[in-house]
Amino acid sequence: HAHLLGIEPLSQGDITAILDLAEEYVTLNRSDAKHADALVGLTQINMFFENSTRTQASFELAGKRLGADVMNMAMQASSIKKGETLIDTAMTLNAMHPDLLVVRHPQSGAVDLLAQKVRCAVLNAGDGRHEHPTQALLDALTIRRAKGRLHRLSIAICGDIAHSRVARSNIILLGKMENRVRLIGPPTLMPTGIAEFGVEVFDDMRAGLEGVDVVMMLRLQRERMDGGFIPSEREYYHRFGLDAEKLAYAKEDAIVMHPGPMNRGVEIDGEIADDINRSVIQDQVEMGVAVRMAAMDLLAQGLRARRAA
Ligand code: CP
Repeated sequence: HAHLLGIEPLSQGDITAILDLAEEYVTLNRSDAKHADALVGLTQINMFFENSTRTQASFELAGKRLGADVMNMAMQASSIKKGETLIDTAMTLNAMHPDLLVVRHPQSGAVDLLAQKVRCAVLNAGDGRHEHPTQALLDALTIRRAKGRLHRLSIAICGDIAHSRVARSNIILLGKMENRVRLIGPPTLMPTGIAEFGVEVFDDMRAGLEGVDVVMMLRLQRERMDGGFIPSEREYYHRFGLDAEKLAYAKEDAIVMHPGPMNRGVEIDGEIADDINRSVIQDQVEMGVAVRMAAMDLLAQGLRARRAA
């Protein structure tokens, strides 16, 4: 693959290859060395048109640990504010010969469009409600390490599914790896036509969590609810917030995940989020660096091979 724009085009083999290489980077990141040379001589530009803590920081660290020259574009201070279009901005950066472009954008499809206009490898760091492929890959690695496998698991994704690119990329990935996916949330926050993805849909947490191996919580994406239904936080927490009573319906050894940013007391009880026996939220963050190192390493190998041909 020339780019990483989504999980959709990836095969089971592609996913396993990224996760296997990421395992090596987990080991490296835990050592004192922390550095390898997979991206030495390459230039990585990070363009985040939407706020980020985890994704931006981990792509930056990943690039630096692999020896790339990493530049973070301060999009708030860029000429986008003066009316320059996304494509003109991309073409301008393209003229500076970057090798890897990491892009987050509020519009679904914007990163795909940009990838058609530049001569480097593009990584989607989240586009609208479309895809967030490195998030699904880091979630997959976290699950595989915690459960010892990434197939025939029962996984519940809970909350605001309709606005979530994290949910969409996870549904696609977990389906490709032959897991059973359940979606739990209010019908108003469930996308139409979702049954086509081979998932089971619930609007009751207790019924949906019954016997699952993995509980993945999502944030209410208020910024994408333009004028539509916005539930009250109190009512939402009562019905869909993960607390000890609801979690008791999942398997005894079920793990709790959250991609962040987390709103404690809205979609998840703070004590559960901090419970090191159940929550793998900090592992997800750790896996994020390793998965992004692996994804950029593999794309750079392809880039170098095409340039040498
Ligand atoms: N999970 C995730 O994408 O977090 P950020 O928005 O902080 O990058």
